[in-house]
Parts: sequence; C-alpha cells; structure tokens
Amino acid sequence: MSVEIRGLNVTIDGKSIIRDVNMDIADGERVGLIGSSGSGKSMISRAIMGLLPTNATVSGSIRLADRQIVGASDRELADLRGRYVGMVFQNPAASLNPVMTVSRQIALPLRLHYDLTRTERLDRVQAMLDKVGLPADVATKYPHELSGGQQQRVGIATALITSPRFIIADEPTTALDSIVQRHIVDLLVSLVDDAGASMLFITHDFAVLSRAATCCYVLDNGAIAETGTTADLLDHPSTEQAVHLVSAARELSLNNATIAATSACVTGMTASRGGTEQTHTRLYDSDIRQEDGE
Ligand SMILES: Nc1ncnc2c1ncn2[C@@H]1O[C@H](COP(=O)(O)OP(=O)(O)O)[C@@H](O)[C@H]1O
Ligand SMILES: [Mg+2]
Repeated sequence: MSVEIRGLNVTIDGKSIIRDVNMDIADGERVGLIGSSGSGKSMISRAIMGLLPTNATVSGSIRLADRQIVGASDRELADLRGRYVGMVFQNPAASLNPVMTVSRQIALPLRLHYDLTRTERLDRVQAMLDKVGLPADVATKYPHELSGGQQQRVGIATALITSPRFIIADEPTTALDSIVQRHIVDLLVSLVDDAGASMLFITHDFAVLSRAATCCYVLDNGAIAETGTTADLLDHPSTEQAVHLVSAARELSLNNATIAATSACVTGMTASRGGTEQTHTRLYDSDIRQEDGE
C-alpha cells in the first residue's frame, strides 16, 4: 500500500510538534524514519494510524492508497488498523496482553476483522507461529513465559496475521539486546517482503536502520532534515542531526568493513542525494550465529 504525506502539522496545546512533513512510501517499499528521542517519530506514526492524542490539532494530508486519514471517522480508522495497517511496537512486554495466551493474542485481529471459524483461526495462528520462528507449543503460553525476542516475534505475528498491506514498526527492537535485534529486524524485513507489503521502520539507530530500509528520512525537532538512501546518509550525513546519529551508530559498531550499496530507492528520493553506486561503512557483521540468547 502506498503512503503519501503532504504538509503534515501536529500541534499540542499550542506547541508545534510536527512541522510541514512530506513523505512518500511506494507500494511494497521499506522506508526508514530516523531521529533522536523526542524528535516526533512516534507522533508521525500515530498520525498515520489516526491515533493522535485527543488534544492534538492536525492539518495536512495523509493518504494510504486512496484513503485520506486526516479527518477520517473513528469507524474508518478502526477498519484500517489491524486489517490493512499492521503495527509493531517498541516494548513487546507492554504491548502484549498479560492475561491472554499467545494464540488468543495473535488471533485477536482475525476475530475483529474476519468471520472465520475457530479452527480456521487456529490454523492461521499455527502457520504464523511457524513463519515467525516460534515452536507450536508457544501457542498456549502467556507473554511472561517468553523471552523478549520471543515476545517481539509474537508482536510481529499479531501485526501480520491479517496480511496487512502496510506495516508501521515503531522502534521494534529498541528494547532488545543487539544480536536479538538483528534477528528480529531480519525476520520483519523478510516477512514484509514476502507479503509484498510496504513498511515504515522507525528507529533512532542507524545500525538497525541499515538492515531495515534502503531509503530514509531524518527527523529533527518535528521536521524532515534530510532524505536519501541509507547508504548515502551513512557516508555523507550533511545535517547536524544526521552526523550525530551516524556517529552514535559508529561508536556502537563492531565492524568497519566496507560493502557496496546495491539497491536504489523506489520513491524519488535518490534524486536529492545522487547515485547509489558507492561504498559505505558496514555497521553490522553479516555473519551472525544462531546462539542469540532469545
Ligand atoms: N500526549 C502528548 N502530549 C503532549 N506532548 C507530547 C505527547 N506525546 C509526545 N509529546 C511530545 O511530542 C514530541 C515528540 O514525541 P515523540 O513523537 O514521542 O518522539 P519520538 O518518538 O521521536 O521519541 C516530544 O516533545 C514529546 O514531549
Ligand atoms: Mg517514539
């Protein structure tokens, strides 16, 4: 599903939180949104889902395929969420219901949006558990019985069970340790690509972003400071905010080998940053072993 944001402004109690944001995500494309804490990343994701705080004032346009989100009714928005738009949140422990088994949790969006028999739902849940790499017996467990990585696999399964056409992942790996982070990002990317869905991947960490999205927007104090391919931004960050985020990622990086950037952006962003036939610093070792402590 394509996403087109034009002139988005969000104000809360007279304070400007999001300023004149424009963003494009083509159908089937993965795009990153990176910025430091408090820059407004979650506010943009809430605006796209129609879940802004009640005291927020919003103007501009957010189109998901042919639907306008700004000013849409609660009913229209509820129909979109979970069915066409899947959400993966930062803290899986907090976003899962502690008194629901994994199976009921994952089945919930199906119960809300589709008229299936119990057996049909359970079959889909089992197939989904397999896709996210969880054993079948996890179905009857409760969230507290799972590790953080397993909980986020349940979060991803819940987001993807209805085969949504667009996924918003808001810092989905921030609460996890770094090796589990890589597995979760890689899993999300492969499932989103297999489904042919588009994704907005939100993070404050360029190392995570470089695995998740080819193109990205850098957010600074509620406004887009810079856009381009993730590879170009890693090599030549031009704004202060991007320089800061790149150097923070490099400090955490274990490996400074260089690799060739291979793919281009689907949307028109490349034009603003030049070509993609460049090398950039690899932030993660691709040779990741399986013993990850999940
Ligand atoms: N419910 C709210 N009411 C008022 N201000 C808020 C609310 N939620 C977030 N903010 C403010 O909006 C700004 C952006 O927040 P947020 O989108 O959560 O940032 P990020 O996700 O990039 O860390 C911050 O200054 C934050 O204090
Ligand atoms: Mg946030």
